[in-house]
Amino acid sequence: MTERDSYKRAAALAAVDMVGSGSVVGLGTGSTASFAIEEIGARLTDGRLGDVLGIPTSEATATLATRCGIPLVDAGTDEVAIAIDGADEIAPDLSLVKGGGGAMLRERIVAALAATFVIVADDAKLVPALGTGCAVPVEVARFGAGATLAHLRSLGHPTLRLDGDELFVTDNGNLVVDLAVDPINDPGWLDASLRAVPGVLATGLFVAMADVAIVGGPGGITTMLGRTAPAPG
Ligand code: A5P
Repeated sequence: MTERDSYKRAAALAAVDMVGSGSVVGLGTGSTASFAIEEIGARLTDGRLGDVLGIPTSEATATLATRCGIPLVDAGTDEVAIAIDGADEIAPDLSLVKGGGGAMLRERIVAALAATFVIVADDAKLVPALGTGCAVPVEVARFGAGATLAHLRSLGHPTLRLDGDELFVTDNGNLVVDLAVDPINDPGWLDASLRAVPGVLATGLFVAMADVAIVGGPGGITTMLGRTAPAPG
């Protein structure tokens, strides 16, 4: 395991300490969330947790969770106690860029259902302002993608995401545009502006959604409180 992976895993394990038996848990997507999924599976296997159900935010996460022995349910009427997910960038106010894995539509649905939305990350994800180091992922409909791209040019520099020589296609059958922008002063405004474009289905800007970010680094883990701020543990 690389040093950076050990930071991610430390953050993920601290987040799993917030999971209670008998709860429904939103399962994020990406390398950091995967450490949490593996840990929930391990605790279900050895009895430290019982009766946990997972709502996966991607097909890849569903596959991993099933392999780890976590029973899955759809996002429906169950109360979701906690969702644990990664992020590509974390600003000081816990606004986020997500969607590096292209899963932001399902991630947003699950995060919004959760009583507590916990972000797990290594310290390389901390930025003074969103848009500093990565583009903003935007999920768009295939139909009219050219027109949607033209609209998006008024908000930044859009590029259709590729998977090798092919267009990247999300689990929902849609395309992803990576929108390069200058550091973002007002992520709420940009998110609303993007979502007002016909053809935009979801953005990777998560504003005022995260309650807690648990960040691993060389000095251990740091907990940052956001939206409603329950303390972990
Ligand atoms: C998936 O679409 C993303 O939102 C991920 O949560 C994000 O890219 C973080 O992934 P890592 O934990 O692999 O960095």
